[in-house]
Amino acid sequence: MATKANGSAKTAGAAYPITDHEYDVVVVGAGGAGLRAAVGAAEAGLRTACVTKVFPTRSHTVAAQGGVAAALGNMGADSWKWHMYDTVKGADWLGDQDAIEYLCRNAPAAVYELEHYGVPFSRTEEGKIYQRPFGGMTTEFGEGPPAQRTCAAADRTGHAMLHTLYGQALKHQTEFFIEYFAIDLLMDADGACRGVVALCLDDGSIHTFRAQKTILATGGYGRAYFSATSAHTCTGDGNAMVLRAGLPLQDMEFVQFHPTGIYGAGVLITEGARGEGGYLTNSQGERFMERYAPHAKDLASRDVVSRSMTMEIREGRGVGKDGDHIFLHLDHLDPKILAERLPGITENAKVFAGVDLRRQPIPVIPTVHYNMGGIPTNYHGEVLTLRGGNPDTVVPGLMAIGEAACVSVHGANRLGSNSLIDLVVFGRAAGLRCGEMVEAGKALPPLPPSATELALSRLDKFRYAKGSTTTATLRGRMQRVMQSNCAVFRDGPVLKEGVAKITDIWNESTDIKTTDRTLVWNSDLIETLEYDNLIAQAVVTVVSAENRKESRGAHAREDFSKRDDANWMVHTLAFADDASRSVRLDVRPVHTNTLTNEVKYIEPKARVY
Ligand code: FUM
Repeated sequence: MATKANGSAKTAGAAYPITDHEYDVVVVGAGGAGLRAAVGAAEAGLRTACVTKVFPTRSHTVAAQGGVAAALGNMGADSWKWHMYDTVKGADWLGDQDAIEYLCRNAPAAVYELEHYGVPFSRTEEGKIYQRPFGGMTTEFGEGPPAQRTCAAADRTGHAMLHTLYGQALKHQTEFFIEYFAIDLLMDADGACRGVVALCLDDGSIHTFRAQKTILATGGYGRAYFSATSAHTCTGDGNAMVLRAGLPLQDMEFVQFHPTGIYGAGVLITEGARGEGGYLTNSQGERFMERYAPHAKDLASRDVVSRSMTMEIREGRGVGKDGDHIFLHLDHLDPKILAERLPGITENAKVFAGVDLRRQPIPVIPTVHYNMGGIPTNYHGEVLTLRGGNPDTVVPGLMAIGEAACVSVHGANRLGSNSLIDLVVFGRAAGLRCGEMVEAGKALPPLPPSATELALSRLDKFRYAKGSTTTATLRGRMQRVMQSNCAVFRDGPVLKEGVAKITDIWNESTDIKTTDRTLVWNSDLIETLEYDNLIAQAVVTVVSAENRKESRGAHAREDFSKRDDANWMVHTLAFADDASRSVRLDVRPVHTNTLTNEVKYIEPKARVY
């Protein structure tokens, strides 16, 4: 790697000395996907840097609880083809079937690789990796009993994976730039990505990271909403950089509500709780999921369970003094099982709900958890855009993986435990692709002088913002609009109002006020840059939702209550123009081809559980 201080860039408010770094591959983000990609690139002999705004083991993967899906068949018959069927169905036929085949086919090897890296999976009596049931995971192409497919390290699977992958990345000499906030992509005049500009939080210095491939592994944008299981750092920074580069985001209307966030706190109670035998009740003590999903019951897919809970509350059967939530019962389970398999949520229920779950139900409510939409990619992790009428045009130099990406394997609704497997399968795929496409040690051409202009003028704009509305005020308004106007159930008038309100907030962002003009650990500035990232994603989310006139997966419209394959089996592409505060929508066909002839295209049908 080459690092040098190379002059400074002048912008409206200040001159910023810039330290330039040259790598073969730069990964932005150090969650499960970013770390796995970094390991792969480094293993291929490439000079690899990982730039991350939080310490790697604080990345949001650490919060993933229930497990990682792979058809190992340790607890009963299983097949990656059944996993593929379940994922296509869970996605409500909006997933790309070539990518879904790639995910499910490669999942077992990816989990064994994690085992060999040292992930401390829970074990069966015979010493095999323990697997639990999860929503929507079945056998025999949906005809058989639930599959036990979700490989677990108690209920701290993400924690175990993240720590292990960080160790592997260090072992492979990935160079980490920790607590560096990526501001914007370095794009050239030909539309290729040449790297990223970042601010070192610790000393306020500005850095350019140039590379042959830049991999965005920057996670989701759950914090666009008021109540989310996501960490406060989940602001979708990579997604917003892509929008500012004039590239589209895909399927942003599909926002997943996890059925069991702790009421009031938003903290996750894993679906593994229901996998281990937990169940939901309403104010009449009824196990209402038996009415909505007679076969899968509490283990129907997340969109179905979240909608059922919302209907119970709306129809007056919610629990609590305001009748506005639901109970999750684990009090009937053997305390030994709770201690061995669900120790994390036992503690979380105590701390965040004041409940001893061995004796009392946990108050829960559907809570924003995951973004199915994101940066469009193929199954190699290469970013796609619409150019010359081709929506599958690869953007040179730019890749995306993990929740930031929309591959699209989750389509309109992700199945629980398919996120952790997505991280490692596509993190590995991106590393392999870099190994094929990147020439180790190749000298990089210098950047044109204007390359840092977008990032530094943006930095300056917010550093010296003299408006009258604080970032916290604008962020609070945005989060409330998202929570009420783009929720579990949607309809035309509410979405139209949402578009108007969120656009107003976007416009009013020109009046933003910051007070700290320094650069060292300036949290006022970083939160403002993060808010600016969130508002652009919030806008494209509501505009895309208003536009899609059907119900599919997590997008449930009361005015268009049916799935409409004839008109809407297409991905939404959303482009946002910050200067004119406008959004342009387009479409990209869903891939109906599979990767190999070993499986056939899974034809759409009614989605019942
Ligand atoms: O419920 C959970 O443990 C979450 C898993 C996931 O989102 O995949």
